[in-house]
Amino acid sequence: MKAQNHINQSLILIVEDDPHFADILTDTLQTLNHTVIKASNGVEALDIIQHEVPDLIITDINMPHLDGYGLCTKIKTNRSTRLIPVIMMTGMDDLDSRVKGIEVGADDFITKPFQLLELRARVASLIKLKHYTDHLENAEEVIFSLAMAVEAKDPYTNGHCRRIATIGSEVARHMGCSDDDVQSVYRGGFLHDIGKIGVPDAILNKTSFLDDSERDLVVKHPTTGEDICKPLHTLTNALPIIRHHHERIDGKGYPDGLSGDEIPLNARIVAVVDCFDAMTTDRPYRKGMSYEKAELRLLKAVDSGQLDENAVNATLQITKLIKTNA
Ligand SMILES: [Fe+2]
Repeated sequence: MKAQNHINQSLILIVEDDPHFADILTDTLQTLNHTVIKASNGVEALDIIQHEVPDLIITDINMPHLDGYGLCTKIKTNRSTRLIPVIMMTGMDDLDSRVKGIEVGADDFITKPFQLLELRARVASLIKLKHYTDHLENAEEVIFSLAMAVEAKDPYTNGHCRRIATIGSEVARHMGCSDDDVQSVYRGGFLHDIGKIGVPDAILNKTSFLDDSERDLVVKHPTTGEDICKPLHTLTNALPIIRHHHERIDGKGYPDGLSGDEIPLNARIVAVVDCFDAMTTDRPYRKGMSYEKAELRLLKAVDSGQLDENAVNATLQITKLIKTNA
């Protein structure tokens, strides 16, 4: 019953340049107990979304300034809005528009003139979906907050997760990785050490050598991290990064002893950026290295079989650029 109330009281954004049709649709949705806001084109809609996130968007296709396809593309390619369902209004039997709508990520279609029963069913179904994805987003936020909590266990790693995510994704882009891989590197980079939640602070912050039992606990953190993130479908592509960010090119890393190309490229990238950040960040017992010294160390790590050569070269180029622009 509670879920039904939530569905009935949803905020719907109508994007339609024909005021008469927009009014008819508004009246209909209001009789179904929804709250409606209106925009007359895509640009206006994007402006509204910045201030007020709707539960559903119903958009016309042909509009001035920014049409329905352009609007849908912008919504579906923006991480903060991509889960808002979009219904496109098309003409009867307009297959071309539907195909194009699918290509830009529209979730559903209604035909003009609309049938009340059809409209009600499609709106209810997509709002229910939004209700579930809201929960999903909350779950994802919890996991990212957990990563921040792990980072907070060591005050000297302040900002490490975000740096690995942002620098790693730039390195991936520089290496010609797909948009999906770039996003995976961002997420995997942010979450790579989340499994350290299972390692006591005294061991994490120990500056002397670890004994065998302590080392056993530390080397489990990639698989623990993978287990934490596995239930979330949206993090599937980040799992190989979390699991394999301590593998070595010569096969002497952990947890699986993979070597060379067996190690996913995204994990090789995060491994390099992780090392670079650890070297250049101040620690309680030593000052962070200069860029030049870290560069030499990374090149040595390539020679010794620890790190991937291409990922090191790309990381050095990107970090040099960031240093120059700082
Ligand atoms: Fe790690």
